[in-house]
Amino acid sequence: MSNAIVALALAAVSLGALSAQGVAPPAQSGDLKFAIIGDSGTGDTPQYEIATQLIAARAKFPYEFVIMLGDNLYYGSGQKDYQKKFEQPYKPLLDSGMKFYATLGNHDNTNEKFYKPFNMNGERFYTFRPKPGVRFFSLDSNYMDKSQTDWLEKELAASGSDWKIAFFHHPLYSSGGTHGSDTKLRDQLEPVFLKYGVDAVFSGHEHFYERIKPQNGIQYFILGNSAKLRKGGIATSEITAKGFDTDNAFMIAEITGDEMSFQTISRKGTVIDSGKFRRAERKAATND
Ligand SMILES: [Fe+2]
Repeated sequence: MSNAIVALALAAVSLGALSAQGVAPPAQSGDLKFAIIGDSGTGDTPQYEIATQLIAARAKFPYEFVIMLGDNLYYGSGQKDYQKKFEQPYKPLLDSGMKFYATLGNHDNTNEKFYKPFNMNGERFYTFRPKPGVRFFSLDSNYMDKSQTDWLEKELAASGSDWKIAFFHHPLYSSGGTHGSDTKLRDQLEPVFLKYGVDAVFSGHEHFYERIKPQNGIQYFILGNSAKLRKGGIATSEITAKGFDTDNAFMIAEITGDEMSFQTISRKGTVIDSGKFRRAERKAATND
């Protein structure tokens, strides 16, 4: 049995586990499915193997776009790098019109913001609304300054969306033994997230997967192992809800009403984490 078939079988089993009857929940109109990869741009075999799983997952779980959590291109950003580390591994997705939305990691050239398939529209930080009620905010955590947090406050205040999802490279909370939590960045961003009701945050940088226990009502994920891997990189920590540091992984997620369900799938197609959570019900400083 191929890895792809195993992946689909396992994905089906896990989706079933999320519902009471053991049957995957029916797609409801208005659902939003998306996929997540992080630290993906090596051009090496693990990136291609994760890409194969990502492509296979789409047959059962037709996600509409992919967010990229930074370090999209390691070791250069020439035309060949874009080809080998992005266009080739994800070719079937790109050929079908799949949109990718990138954020900049510490290994990325800022000029990636001009690369059309990353959909950054020439901006280091930007926002997009894939459907009414759901808005994503891609931040540049390499250079977090007041102009960016001012922009973020303004956009959050004006968003009018129920779901506010942020993604950027450096994690505010992490059990990584090498990097760990970026507390300076946390001091800059967390008050804004809390004030305006950000619900979920996806980051990379740490080359493993970690689902953090909700912090002040916000659900944080680290996914920095969609090509790179730091085996055993997660140190024992009280903030870990689920950790996976023995293989590469990617995620798929679905928003249905006030709930987001997610699955994290390994390079071998094994579902290594799944669950769902409700969006934060804090009173946000918006009129929505
Ligand atoms: Fe990084």
